[in-house]
Amino acid sequence: MAPPQQITQLFDKIDSLKPQFIQRLADAVAIPSVSADAEHRPKVVEMAKWMEKQLADLGATDIQLKELGIEEGTKDLHLPPIVLARYGTDPSKKNVLIYGHYDVQPALKEDGWNTDPFKLVQEGDCLYGRGSTDDKGPVVDWLNILQAHNELKLDIPVNLVFCFEGMEESGSLGLDDLIKAEAEKYFKGVDAVCISDNYWLGDSHPVLTYGVRGVSYYTITVEGPAADLHSGLFGGVVHEPMIDLSHVFSKLVDPKGNILIPGIAEMVAPLTKEEDALYDNIKFGLDGFEHNIGSQTVIHDNVKPALQARWRYPSLSIHGVEGAFYNPGAKTVIPAKVVGKFSIRTVPNIEPRKLDEVVFAHVNKVFSELGSKNKCTVELLHDGDYWVSDPNNWSFRAARRATKDVWGVEPDLTREGGSIPITLSFQDNLKTSVILLPVGRGDDGAHSTNEKINVSNYIQGAKTLGAYLHYLADEQKDA
Ligand code: BES
Ligand code: ZN
Repeated sequence: MAPPQQITQLFDKIDSLKPQFIQRLADAVAIPSVSADAEHRPKVVEMAKWMEKQLADLGATDIQLKELGIEEGTKDLHLPPIVLARYGTDPSKKNVLIYGHYDVQPALKEDGWNTDPFKLVQEGDCLYGRGSTDDKGPVVDWLNILQAHNELKLDIPVNLVFCFEGMEESGSLGLDDLIKAEAEKYFKGVDAVCISDNYWLGDSHPVLTYGVRGVSYYTITVEGPAADLHSGLFGGVVHEPMIDLSHVFSKLVDPKGNILIPGIAEMVAPLTKEEDALYDNIKFGLDGFEHNIGSQTVIHDNVKPALQARWRYPSLSIHGVEGAFYNPGAKTVIPAKVVGKFSIRTVPNIEPRKLDEVVFAHVNKVFSELGSKNKCTVELLHDGDYWVSDPNNWSFRAARRATKDVWGVEPDLTREGGSIPITLSFQDNLKTSVILLPVGRGDDGAHSTNEKINVSNYIQGAKTLGAYLHYLADEQKDA
């Protein structure tokens, strides 16, 4: 069935605005709003102000920059504000909350970028730049939709409530409290939440996403000598923190990805036959994984166990070691204090506090078995919940229609291995459904070097998000 006239009109307008939309994304990417790094914090704030101005220029109202105070564990580092805004306040319309994040992961040219990460560069169908897909491209697409409607003088048939944060990549600090505080105020009456902060599974087939894993992030600090030591003088004489940490690391997970901490597997919801069958229809192969990662290093022989490992089982990753020697060359140092970092992606029905218990007990037991005289402390840095929803509700129905209009195919229904910790908080506190409606592709390289978004996804993505709003007005909200 051909889309209704106002939607084809919207699509044509979006096509004609392509150069302006690319420029808007270039302006956003040029602000290095890296949340993980205190030195960049003014840039994160600058990005919030950029969002504020864009929203104001595009006709949004009731724009508020919500201050969240000082970041815990710091002296005077202010958290970046949450940007709230409305577009439309017609009481006869449904209210849709749009969430996205305007902060990005760190990026340095010397990490292996072919171009300056904070300058949007087009090559063929690809736009390279930090945040192009995660999450500035999708966030800017929401702005683009406002411009397209404004220029057409076309009504958006739902009221929009925007909530953009600047700490997502660092655990969404402060946002959960804000959602609770505003549930009956700014967010009162929200009927649905839409988040575009995820990706297609591969590079050709659109998806709608109904689940994400949670994440619990831990540190293991091992300390002994009062200062770094010369290994020629003290090697073989002292207990070395780095050696201890390596041993503890090796007891967390094996090279096949099996978690070695007792008590975690038991918490995972059993795989039912019905759930298992859902994986048979996904249009994705092992070669798709290999394409995404640019190598043939997948643990599994078949796509189904690989997808299940990513979506519905926990995983444990080791991320790095603070205090360890990592420069080129051969420094003969014994680091005095090292902080090992690892995280566990969580799934139903792992309870975060129970997980902490088994993690702490295991690390302490393994360390005590080493017989080392060093001191070991294991701590939780931050955690975020997993989320799984019903992919057949009215919001998904609207998104399916929109996706079909734009891409001409039925979207696959996927879960994700990554985390958007705030998803569950929106669902629970606003008592509403959430959908993840992606713009980018699985091979975009979010968090990686040479992150990109395809121009086609960026433009078709704007159409998909725009049509979704129209179909949402048309769909009957579930009881
Ligand atoms: N956009 C990602 C979430 C995501 C990742 C969705 C992979 C789908 C697939 C988001 O910006 C992100 O990276 N989140 C962090 C959250 C963490 C810092 C609490 C993550 O997953 O590591
Ligand atoms: Zn993101």
